[in-house]
Amino acid sequence: MDLPAHEARRLAAAAAGTAPGAAPAPLDAARQEAYDRLAARRLDGEPLQYLEGTAAFGPVEVAVDARALIPRPETEGLWELAVAALGEAGPGTTIVDLGTGTGALAFALEHAFGEARVIGVDDDEAALSLAAENAARLGSNVELVHGDLFSALDERLMGRLDLVVSNPPYVAEAEWASLPPDVREHEPRHALVAGPAGTEVLERIAEEAYWWLAVGGHLLCEIGETQGAAMERAFGAFDRHIRTDLAGRDRYLVARKGAPCCV
Ligand SMILES: C[S@@+](CC[C@H](N)C(=O)[O-])C[C@H]1O[C@@H](n2cnc3c(N)ncnc32)[C@H](O)[C@@H]1O
Repeated sequence: MDLPAHEARRLAAAAAGTAPGAAPAPLDAARQEAYDRLAARRLDGEPLQYLEGTAAFGPVEVAVDARALIPRPETEGLWELAVAALGEAGPGTTIVDLGTGTGALAFALEHAFGEARVIGVDDDEAALSLAAENAARLGSNVELVHGDLFSALDERLMGRLDLVVSNPPYVAEAEWASLPPDVREHEPRHALVAGPAGTEVLERIAEEAYWWLAVGGHLLCEIGETQGAAMERAFGAFDRHIRTDLAGRDRYLVARKGAPCCV
């Protein structure tokens, strides 16, 4: 079986050490061998981005490997919505990315809001080590913290967050088997599967975020396409709505903390 031509071109660029869009250069014997090895791994189902070693995400490019999920185009949509929601940010602004993975979303937010403090949280040490490598590569000041959702944060941030974003795991255990094999066999299951229902991590974010956000603070999460109605209920303490992707599927929860509700 042959690779599609565009993938073959990208792997040839990776083997030659040139940018993916660059004019193809003839491969010498060593690079041909490197290309053959990459092509064999691709034909075996390994994701193209892991073989290339990088992925573009909005204004940044991050290194990717099996330690973390490959950033997806729909999460660039979450980044765009978050930038539009926050609008502007000064030195006192605090932004948190829960489940940061490669750090792509946190770095892209830092790019948009250069004066803000940006914190990326992940409970997976391996993912966080990749995010730290990416921070060094990008010269980023994003703070990377290991831990479980909001409990990883300094308690002094409670009630002070201006923007919380998250692309959390939202796949149900029973859905795992139906995901494409290149995802199942190569990307971390923990990054995708939340539990029996799929909404478990989102529901925890809904419960805890109210206490961490400042009044007027924004909360944006990527959600599964069947989860819109459940998430509108789960985030009932917020002014909130569900946004769709270009195909009209429910994909984003966009919420804002209004005046104190329950005191
Ligand atoms: C869907 S991936 C998203 C990664 C990255 N934000 C992106 O969009 O490409 C979810 C991430 O959440 C992390 N995660 C899962 N459960 C978590 C928890 N309870 N606390 C913190 N991070 C968690 C996983 O390790 C994984 O890196």
